[in-house]
Amino acid sequence: MGLEQARIINLPKIGDPRGNLTFIEGQKHIPFEIKRVYYLYDVPGGESRGGHAHYKLEQLVIAASGSFDMILDDGKQKQRFHLNRSYYGLYIPKMLWREMDNFSSSSVCLVLASMMYDESDYIRNYDEFIRVVNGHG
Ligand code: TYD
Repeated sequence: MGLEQARIINLPKIGDPRGNLTFIEGQKHIPFEIKRVYYLYDVPGGESRGGHAHYKLEQLVIAASGSFDMILDDGKQKQRFHLNRSYYGLYIPKMLWREMDNFSSSSVCLVLASMMYDESDYIRNYDEFIRVVNGHG
């Protein structure tokens, strides 16, 4: 599972002078069924989040408001994605290390997840992540 599967998905946008609307249906606009939704908000300036990978979890990450960066790492290479539109979703497949930084003030990071919360699905140690990626986990 490598970085090449991570991608920005251009979500449907219904433009309207009264305000824009974007919607997401599991298995249709994104390649998984949505089991959980969570969001990050009130992130202090200069703060970073993430610092882990997941054995099985797939996610779609959206800058619902404001902007931030997501850095993905498959153990061989890293890619930085700047999320700054409410209709862009970054699809994150399983087994990528992720870090988030560069949060703008009042930004909201909305996450759609393929599984319920399960701490045993996390890899929180980078050296362990590298061992697992290389098949020695
Ligand atoms: P974590 O995923 O480590 O946050 P981030 O990657 O954004 O830095 O989660 C932070 C804390 O919140 C951790 O103690 C687990 C808890 N948590 C839940 O209980 N349920 C959830 O769905 C999520 C995402 C986190």
